[in-house]
Amino acid sequence: MNIAEVKHQALADVSNAANPAELEQARVSLLGRKGTLTELLRSLKDTPKEHRPRVGREINIAKTEIEEAISLRREALEKAARDAAAHASIDVTLPGRSRHRGSLHPVTQTFSTIEEIFVRAGYEVVYGPEIEDDYHNFEALNIPKHHPARAMHDTFYLGDGRLLRTHTSPVQVRTMETQSPPIRIICPGRVYRRDFDRTHTPMFHQVEGLVVDRGISFADLKGTVISFVHAFFEREVEVRFRPSYFPFTEPSAEVDVMSEQGWSEVMGCGVVHPKVLSMSGIDPKQFSGFAFGFGVDRLAMVKFGVSDLRILFDNDIRFLRQFG
Ligand code: FA5
Ligand code: MG
Repeated sequence: MNIAEVKHQALADVSNAANPAELEQARVSLLGRKGTLTELLRSLKDTPKEHRPRVGREINIAKTEIEEAISLRREALEKAARDAAAHASIDVTLPGRSRHRGSLHPVTQTFSTIEEIFVRAGYEVVYGPEIEDDYHNFEALNIPKHHPARAMHDTFYLGDGRLLRTHTSPVQVRTMETQSPPIRIICPGRVYRRDFDRTHTPMFHQVEGLVVDRGISFADLKGTVISFVHAFFEREVEVRFRPSYFPFTEPSAEVDVMSEQGWSEVMGCGVVHPKVLSMSGIDPKQFSGFAFGFGVDRLAMVKFGVSDLRILFDNDIRFLRQFG
């Protein structure tokens, strides 16, 4: 056989090899000690001397080509074997492994529900800083230094005169300072107090509401609060207004809602004190307003039937999974 014939046959044998063993057989019969190509190389000595370099080169080129073909074929066969093995090890009858889908935290869900209700009623959502100054958290709300009402707020002070806001009411001050009536806002956010028991956590969430316009009265406040509570619980839960005291509202009330857990206090509210309006640049002779501030976590607690508020912040996955 001449070189071309040997090469042609060799490439056919390589590509016909159906498995690694057959390929190895083909390799040996070509390149082995008695292989066709080896024989060809050996026969070089019988070639006339002047042709030897050319013929030798041709044989070597053919040999390289054949070796490359063998190694490509080997890779293809090995890959096919791996794929087959992988396929054989998949048991398609096994039940699937389901992934747990994450869900929004119950407090986040509660915030969304609250915001939806108020936005639908035409309120604007406004945010304020969690690190406040004494003026906005207290003074501008008619709680001067040494006022006994400061004791109601177990405040975290930062040491430089600033503090962690104890309620969202400073946001109503900041809004009245920069906007003129009519004002209709809610201010959601985190607030902080040195509190810790079944119904109090050191960080909790409030939503402040403020409406300032001409002729706003306590009756408007009462109607708004009751409609909100019914919309929030999606049923006509019992609501109770208790006379209360806040330096920044007059009259003031606290609002309780009834559930399996009995009455739960969910908010403070009242008619904005004229002094608070005028301190922020609104004329109390022309305008009046009402304000409320409720505990978002308390509302979540009542709605979801949680008996200890602190579990909302434990990040226990078994608890959180119930809100998917
Ligand atoms: C206030 O914070 C007033 N700023 C509310 C207000 C706004 C009154 C506007 C008038 C006009 P109070 O301290 O009562 O009020 O808190 C309001 C609500 O926050 C409470 O009814 C309760 O639901 C919730 N709350 C208070 N302290 C905690 C706490 N440590 N953990 C969880 N919720 C709390
Ligand atoms: Mg209170």
